[in-house]
Amino acid sequence: MCGIVGYTGCREAYPILIKGLHRLEYRGYDSAGTALFSENYGNLNIFKASGKVSDLEKAAEGHDRSGSMGIAHTRWATHGSPNVANAHPHVSQSGDITLVHNGIIENYAVLRDQLKAKGFTFKSQTDTEVLVQLIEFIRTTQETDIVNAVRLALTKAIGAYAIVVMDKRTPDVLVAARNASPMVIGIGENDSEFFIASDASPIAEYTNRMVYLNDGEVAVCVKGSPLKVLNLENDSVEAKVKKVNLDLNMLDKGGFPHFMLKEIFDQPNVLKDCLRGRLLPEHQRVILSAVTEHREELLNAKRFIVVSCGTSWHAGLIGKQLIEDFCQIPVEVAYASEFRYANPVVGPGDIVIAISQSGETADTLAAINLAKAKGAMIFGIVNAVGSSIARHTDTGTYIHVGPEIGVASTKAFTGQVTVLIMLALALAHEKKSISTASYQEVLAELALIPEKIEKVLEQNDKIKTLASRYAECRNFLYLGRGVNYPVALEGALKLKEISYIHAEGYPAAEMKHGPIALVDEDMPVVFIATHHQLYEKVVSNMQEVIARKGKILAIVTEGDELVKKMVDEVIEVPQTLNCLAPLLTVIPLQILAYHIAVAKGLNVDMPRNLAKSVTVE
Ligand code: F6R
Repeated sequence: MCGIVGYTGCREAYPILIKGLHRLEYRGYDSAGTALFSENYGNLNIFKASGKVSDLEKAAEGHDRSGSMGIAHTRWATHGSPNVANAHPHVSQSGDITLVHNGIIENYAVLRDQLKAKGFTFKSQTDTEVLVQLIEFIRTTQETDIVNAVRLALTKAIGAYAIVVMDKRTPDVLVAARNASPMVIGIGENDSEFFIASDASPIAEYTNRMVYLNDGEVAVCVKGSPLKVLNLENDSVEAKVKKVNLDLNMLDKGGFPHFMLKEIFDQPNVLKDCLRGRLLPEHQRVILSAVTEHREELLNAKRFIVVSCGTSWHAGLIGKQLIEDFCQIPVEVAYASEFRYANPVVGPGDIVIAISQSGETADTLAAINLAKAKGAMIFGIVNAVGSSIARHTDTGTYIHVGPEIGVASTKAFTGQVTVLIMLALALAHEKKSISTASYQEVLAELALIPEKIEKVLEQNDKIKTLASRYAECRNFLYLGRGVNYPVALEGALKLKEISYIHAEGYPAAEMKHGPIALVDEDMPVVFIATHHQLYEKVVSNMQEVIARKGKILAIVTEGDELVKKMVDEVIEVPQTLNCLAPLLTVIPLQILAYHIAVAKGLNVDMPRNLAKSVTVE
């Protein structure tokens, strides 16, 4: 979703801004723009393009791109189509003030009518333009400076925002602010230059000293002066500097044609990172510091409620089965977007588990804030270190799988499931609801998962060949049972989001209650049929599909001769314990979706209409 970059200091701003926008491309966007303050002529030079950052670079080519202060933006359209007029930065009526914005100003229509009545005209359909005009209106009518004008304007804005503002009258000054949309400020050389962005990835190569703004804070970044942070009441707030070290290699494709494929292949290594220091097979223990520190609250929980969205919600469904099975603690799994408006029955004694890759999903953040206000404890399972959700939880466990750039989530899913398995094991061990033998068996098997994933990845070429046969299909059904039911949902989601093929996931036994009507010779059905106690029942469901001439692709346990003889295609995964099966069975489904999308010539890393970080509700 929208991305922001800003710079003020002694370097040329344009290359920093463009490189930063490229780093943010993974968030998903449909237009881009930049504004530069040129010291030579005191001009604001603004360039915009619909499409990609490379289109913006073409639009700026041959023009004056000089200046050591500027702002830039990638826009994911919400109010108004993705054209040049709606692209950011937006400029105030006088041409003095420019602004980039992530989020949504919910009362923009009322504000726009008020401003129109004062003589302001609007060039775009965006809510953002209203904000920049409002800032100008306040600055002119109250004869105040840009910092005050921004602060006062924000007291009138309702909604979510991260903004950076630049004023021609005060060169060297960038004003940044946030409410429910992330904003990071990197402090550069000699404390005299500032890098501003919607996440740390555009900043990491210049500095590791970062300040994450909190809701309702305004940062004043003046070249050559220390960073100043205010709240909306104009009181000074302490700027807490954090050391954030991002591995820049993780932000590159590392020789793969797409981030998604790289991230699929990253899984053995990043899961080792996720397990490192937590799974201690030699000591036959799993240790999560959050469980050690909050042992009593966790063991005495009335229930757990998982709140999350999309792929993270699928991970939550697996977590529910594992925690209930191992710990006998009831677990509910809610879509964060539904939970936040449902007036949910939640309070002290409940533990809300928020699962999020980005840590910035607006619905998940709102759900945890609601649960917290009602007295629940919040446990985060988050990938992005220092993200808003991570900072709003009471405790939690990072998944530590490195930045995920491909819009379709892959390694974050297996990381989330891995953390949930460790959480279930750690709690069950403390609660003594698992036998020592079972605990140690799962632990030992979990340690082997990364190398078993390697074996699944060896089938990449075979799956690629299969994929070319399925690329023309219009519909897919994915079926699984138990822990493999959420994997079916995840396989279907992966396929639809990057290949635009309609796909549905179902519990295999539900097929006969409706979806079976869809089955014919043109309907591929993907079964996840690894060895577990319901294997025979899944095989019976396959017979029902075969009887209706459906084509079956089955994910089976290595050496399964029965299914091999029955169905059109099989992909084998190594034998493992049923509770760990999703970590293996999801891998071929990720690879299949990837190759089908590539065979269709689609933009795998940035599928249409999707954003990586969904910071609006
Ligand atoms: C699917 C996908 C989305 C996200 C969802 C939640 O591949 O990436 O469904 O899982 O938007 O995002 P996070 O986990 O960042 O809260």
